[in-house]
Amino acid sequence: MQTSTTNGKRNETVPMANPAEVTVLINGVRHAGHPGERLVDIVNRAGVELAQVCYHPQLGPIQTCDTCLVEIDGQLVRACATTVSEGMSVSTVSPKAHAAQQEAFDRILSNHMLYCTVCDNNNGNCTVHNTTKLLAIEHQQIPFQTKPFEVDNTNPFYRYDPDQCILCGRCVEACQNVEVNETLSINWDDPHPRVLWDGGSTIRESSCVSCGHCVTVCPCNALMEKSMLGHAGFLTGISKRTLNSMIDVVKGVEPETGFGSILRVSEIESAMRESRIRRTKTVCTYCGVGCSFNIWTKDRHILKVEPSDGPANGISTCIKGKFGWDYVNDPDRLTTPLIREGEGFREAGWDEALDLVARRFAEIKTQHGPDSLAFISSSKCTNEESYLMQKLARAVVGTNNIDNCSRYCQAPATTGLFRTVGYGGDSGSIHDIENASLVLIVGSNTAESHPVLATRVKRAHKLHGQKLIVSDLRENEMARRADIFLHPKPGTDLVWLSAIARYLLEKGLAHEDFLRQWVNGLEEYKKTLAPFTMEFASQTCGLPVETLEKVAHMIAEARGVCILWAMGVTQQSQGSDTSTAISNLLLVTGNYMRTGTGAYPLRGHNNVQGAGDSGAAPNAFPGYQSVDDPEVRARFEAGWKVKLSSTKGLDNHQMVDAIHQGKLKSLYLEGEEMAIVDSNANHVAAAFSKLDFFVVQDIFFSATCRFADVVLPATPSLEKEGTFTSTERRIQRLHRVFEPIPGSRPDWKITQDIANRLGANWNYAHPSEIMSEMASLTPLLAGVNYERLEGYKSLQWPVAADGSDQPLLYTKKFNFPDGKARLFPVSWTGPVEKSDAEFDLHLNNGRLLEHFHEGNLTYRVKGIQEQTPDTFVEISPELAQERGVQSGTWLLLISRYGQVRVRALVTDRVSGRELYMPMNSTESPVNRLTSSIADPVTHTPAFKEASVHMQVLPEVGESPLPRVNPRFGHPTPQHGVEAERKWKRPDYRFPGSDLVQIQRK
Ligand code: SF4
Ligand code: SF4
Ligand code: SF4
Ligand code: FES
Repeated sequence: MQTSTTNGKRNETVPMANPAEVTVLINGVRHAGHPGERLVDIVNRAGVELAQVCYHPQLGPIQTCDTCLVEIDGQLVRACATTVSEGMSVSTVSPKAHAAQQEAFDRILSNHMLYCTVCDNNNGNCTVHNTTKLLAIEHQQIPFQTKPFEVDNTNPFYRYDPDQCILCGRCVEACQNVEVNETLSINWDDPHPRVLWDGGSTIRESSCVSCGHCVTVCPCNALMEKSMLGHAGFLTGISKRTLNSMIDVVKGVEPETGFGSILRVSEIESAMRESRIRRTKTVCTYCGVGCSFNIWTKDRHILKVEPSDGPANGISTCIKGKFGWDYVNDPDRLTTPLIREGEGFREAGWDEALDLVARRFAEIKTQHGPDSLAFISSSKCTNEESYLMQKLARAVVGTNNIDNCSRYCQAPATTGLFRTVGYGGDSGSIHDIENASLVLIVGSNTAESHPVLATRVKRAHKLHGQKLIVSDLRENEMARRADIFLHPKPGTDLVWLSAIARYLLEKGLAHEDFLRQWVNGLEEYKKTLAPFTMEFASQTCGLPVETLEKVAHMIAEARGVCILWAMGVTQQSQGSDTSTAISNLLLVTGNYMRTGTGAYPLRGHNNVQGAGDSGAAPNAFPGYQSVDDPEVRARFEAGWKVKLSSTKGLDNHQMVDAIHQGKLKSLYLEGEEMAIVDSNANHVAAAFSKLDFFVVQDIFFSATCRFADVVLPATPSLEKEGTFTSTERRIQRLHRVFEPIPGSRPDWKITQDIANRLGANWNYAHPSEIMSEMASLTPLLAGVNYERLEGYKSLQWPVAADGSDQPLLYTKKFNFPDGKARLFPVSWTGPVEKSDAEFDLHLNNGRLLEHFHEGNLTYRVKGIQEQTPDTFVEISPELAQERGVQSGTWLLLISRYGQVRVRALVTDRVSGRELYMPMNSTESPVNRLTSSIADPVTHTPAFKEASVHMQVLPEVGESPLPRVNPRFGHPTPQHGVEAERKWKRPDYRFPGSDLVQIQRK
């Protein structure tokens, strides 16, 4: 699909007014609005052209440009900052208004040189260009003046050109109040104001996290993606010297001909660009937030990522979604199937490789039965691909041995929600989290693992009075921002959560009406809370009683509470029970069934929710329909025209054990780096080497490929069609940006080819046909089809046959037959893997902002590698001092299961004897240290329960994190752009107060 934005106004994103309640006259014509609506939004909706350089609907009024001045009752006011009232009469075109708009824009042009024809931003959407045209400006009254600053090229992904900066402040507003990284400001008090990073640092040495918000909203070419420079235009790739001469030529003709002729030439050039620049909507392939955006490409070159209309993210991205795509064109991409030959591999043709796979699957099935084969789908792949993978396992091979990596992270959260409220998904949308008056985050490094979702919490906390409580072992960014930061002893969240539930019930602070009307099992639940006194919680968790009581009262008093949690909860041996305790607490306090409330397990991979939804699970067909339900099975048997097994299959944790036991002979693994990301990696690798036949499908030769018999080259998301389902249960389409590189194939086609060689007669010509089939067999997805997902349209399951979806779950009932939720008693058994005299340090682990998981994709992004070149282990200042360690000291970490050599990073993010190791390494993967201990309900490994012995090695190297990593920057928080400081400047004058004559056409 190709889409295009038209101009900086982005009319398409302006919401329609709610039921019209007021009438406004704009240039004598009546228009409907609602009280409190911004005038500029009604003007835009009405299609009335009005300059508005600094206004962006997703940023709100910034009020720095004054180009939106209109006349109301003889007064000039800013349309962006004016709210409408009944009968308001507005002129956007009165002589007074028009002259003021021109005057305001003239001042803007004094900060910006118009050389559009040779500018990489001349793509039809440049606000400065379009406003020059709209206001029919021919000549500048105030001449253009350069600023006494160099271009800042120090960030790997974008550059800032002060000379082109019109000081609109959009970037500052986005950084301060949308991303809330608080890096940018404008020094309004300086004779030469400009945008500053950390108050005056280079970009490279600032706290900038390269999220790209500022670049995305910049209305001109002051901030630009480096990938655009020299590539977007027909004339922009020429040398700097020639380019400067051409700019001089362009400027030279202006006094004679005016801007009009310059604009006309540049518009011809811009129109020519349309023929070679494609803008394709896709969905981010990294985390589960589900950001979507247009990718601009010229041939196979990615010009830029343009977020704008994504329902989850709007203008937001993080470094990975905005700049993390180099891997797609990496020369190391697999382009031919590989077949093992001795200790190595040889290249093979597709037919030979697929024939071999099918022949070996058939032989093993004949010899050992269908349950000797297993299949693992990828949560990086599409829903349609997971559907086909489970269909291959079930309908073609005849086994339920099918799983995906949600086993490693999300299954316990899903279990906790199935037990209590009935659906295994987030209760609402990110928007509902924004509406909470209190957000409680448990075991989630949200700002790094789900960056764009975190921005919404940071914004609500900064601007809208939302309270924030964080429970974590590390003082991560969210913990630093929190009103209360709880640091419980490892693996004890269940205890304090249950103690708070007990306290609230005892003190009469529970939501009695809600419990009576909507919840079963209260009496039984109350009995099981007996052990969870505040004193017990305090002792077990190491948290003061007063703090716990304060948290309890904040929860009880909050208008609405959302609880967000992630792997700090789920990757524990009691992950399912702690997830259950979270949902129990929400029920006790009535925090379900309305916006601003609910349970939000934050899904890790882009499609970890969808992989489970699509049936890549050993116990369930798509839509969580049990394989041992005869009625369900009969439906799938009729649909697929085969007999199906009712025996629950092996999950991926059990698969590893079954390989060691000699029961499982063959594994087909799609897009997972299991040899590194599974817990107890040595044990997993040993299992892979025992397989009779191992097929790995991936886009790179991963560490797991080393164990394969056949490696099949697949394609990344940008080279295929399909859908992903984000943490919000939001199903979104990705459209193909590039053709697959020669030799690679989309996963769904490979799976189909294998199935057909095994006798299936599948004829899917497009993923839409796969989705239609899945929807026809799956009540949860009944109304999902590609038409309803075209472009930026999305659906949040459950989706009824008529296409209606449920952004907020449980508005009318919970998902149980009687419509009531269930309090599900849990007890506390404590972590299984414990520290002792030998393994005396607790090792926590998880993600980093810049890298995704082990880094197979993100290490191929040069700019990311520069900022975060390697893994490390975080060690507290007190432990570092005790052991004589400094940042850069090499350490040998030894656990009961393996060892890794890694450099230390001394930081107060961790404290005492707790270490933290990011998972971004294939050389020293943290999972060589983790165990096979797992949550007994879901078999999710207890990744977070690890104890190590630390041996200090004699070598001391560089700090593993270079100075240019943003965590070493010094943000400058402030209240947005602070335009009032501009208005106080001696040279500021409200336009129109002393009108100057500006030449018009
Ligand atoms: S963090 Fe950096 S990239 Fe993101 S908005 Fe701020 S300055 Fe721009
Ligand atoms: S760099 Fe910032 S202040 Fe300058 S023009 Fe761009 S968005 Fe406006
Ligand atoms: S990694 Fe997550 S937060 Fe970042 S752009 Fe992608 S979906 Fe959005
Ligand atoms: S758009 Fe209103 S002041 Fe800039």
